[in-house]
Amino acid sequence: MRPGQPVLLLVLAPALAVRPLPQEQKPKEAHTLNWNKLSGFWYILAVATDTQGFLPARDKRKLGASVLRVHKRAQLKVVVAFSRPQGCQSQEVTLKKDRKKAVFRNTLRGVKAFRVVSTDYTYGLVYLQLGRADRNHKTLLLFHRQNVSSFQNLKEFMDKCDVLALSEAAVVLPKDASCAHTILP
Ligand SMILES: *[C@@H]1O[C@H](CO)[C@@H](O)[C@H](O)[C@H]1NC(C)=O
Repeated sequence: MRPGQPVLLLVLAPALAVRPLPQEQKPKEAHTLNWNKLSGFWYILAVATDTQGFLPARDKRKLGASVLRVHKRAQLKVVVAFSRPQGCQSQEVTLKKDRKKAVFRNTLRGVKAFRVVSTDYTYGLVYLQLGRADRNHKTLLLFHRQNVSSFQNLKEFMDKCDVLALSEAAVVLPKDASCAHTILP
């Protein structure tokens, strides 16, 4: 169990007790997602990943960020800034959309899937499948336009982590925007 978890569970426990778990949401398909409305700057408020060594030590963690840009219809330029064990790092990758599904990828760069699982355009749950060849890492990110999320957003994130068997790895990031703001457009 990660150090951050007991607090998170404590915060979530009352809601889990009184509300039935929602039905798992079907992934939104391309025609129902407005990629222009998804463009621009997002904070990354929480992360859950099975990638070993992805996050730095607890006291070095910071908010992440991402900038999404739609290029033509089938290309998505993604910049991501994240506080890693080596310090604040940003990366940029151009993804191509699957012909049929609302999934973007660039297998040469190790991005097997980038999928917006759920969004109302103020927040988004983003599922990433990373790895080369037969290696596979799954990551769920909570995107938000602001540096804080609603309780409901966080709960949906945790529910989805459960479905993906990533609950043990779920981390809410500390509200330090110094790394996130390095990629402000
Ligand atoms: C969060 O954002 C608000 C304005 O959007 C800002 O006033 C506040 O300082 C930010 N908090 C942190 C911890 O960055």
